[in-house]
Amino acid sequence: MEQKSIAVLTSGGDAPGMNAAVRAVVRAGINRGMRVYGIYRGFNGLLNGEIEEMNLRSVSDIIGNGGTMLYTARSEEFKKKEAQERAAEFCRNKGISGVVVIGGDGSFRGARALTAAGINCIGVPGTIDNDIACSEYTVGFDTAMNTALQMVDRIRDTAQSHDRCSIVEVMGRRCGDIALQTGIAVGATAILVPEIEYNIEKDVIARIVNTQKTGKKHFIIVVAEGVGGVRDLAKYIEQRLNIEARATILGHVQRGGSPTLRDRVVASLMGYKAVSLLDRGLGNRVVVMHDGKITHLDINEALDMERVFDEQLYKVAMSISI
Ligand code: F6P
Repeated sequence: MEQKSIAVLTSGGDAPGMNAAVRAVVRAGINRGMRVYGIYRGFNGLLNGEIEEMNLRSVSDIIGNGGTMLYTARSEEFKKKEAQERAAEFCRNKGISGVVVIGGDGSFRGARALTAAGINCIGVPGTIDNDIACSEYTVGFDTAMNTALQMVDRIRDTAQSHDRCSIVEVMGRRCGDIALQTGIAVGATAILVPEIEYNIEKDVIARIVNTQKTGKKHFIIVVAEGVGGVRDLAKYIEQRLNIEARATILGHVQRGGSPTLRDRVVASLMGYKAVSLLDRGLGNRVVVMHDGKITHLDINEALDMERVFDEQLYKVAMSISI
């Protein structure tokens, strides 16, 4: 029987744990007797021929590294049909019948297009935001939250020493999950997320005032990137309440660093699953976590799903951070 060849790429914003997923794909593929190629810089690598055959040692000692050894990109060019056809032709010429695409929603759209052009693709959710509706969990989320937690804990030390209010912006353009989880973990007085409309007087000022009445003098407000405006919020709090306030934007520090145990394990399981699906001749699927188990869904179905924000968790946070 002819030896099957598959490839793996990472696309979109990098996320800690992507390397663990790449390693799992390479190792699981070779273990099944396949040839496995690494494609560099996302879908652009298929267009520029940036590709290399991997062996078992190509992915040694990367499981604990942040970033992605395959580099990544958000490819504008790959949105064009002509580019998708060209990439599929490139794969056919190399004998590659399937590609594992590790990334977010945008990357899954690319995977769908490449499958439609004749090359089976399997998506693996990798993004720190946890903003992929079809999966309870995305690789990188745990590490990013823990980094944000450590950073806010440090900010708390200085906010406490100075009796200040610190407003901290965490990542998440469309999704407040990092803000919500971090906010709970640091006991934030207010948490602002894009999924929930807020009123500055009721949801920030009144919460600070009520907490002040109980004797507290320092406050942490966690704000998701998608809400933004942390510097203006700091100024407003200073003027309105006559307390010192400081704004901090954590930014890309949340995207780097050695992945946590959870991210390494989930990435390994998802990468392994993706290879088993390609081995079965399947394409246009995305590996997901559902009820804590690793399973898979049709990409179209996955992309049509709407994310549900955990309002109950938000309510719990608001009722105990007082
Ligand atoms: O999707 C992951 C993410 O880190 C978002 O939280 C953030 O909005 C975005 O990527 C930042 O993208 P870039 O690195 O291109 O500035």
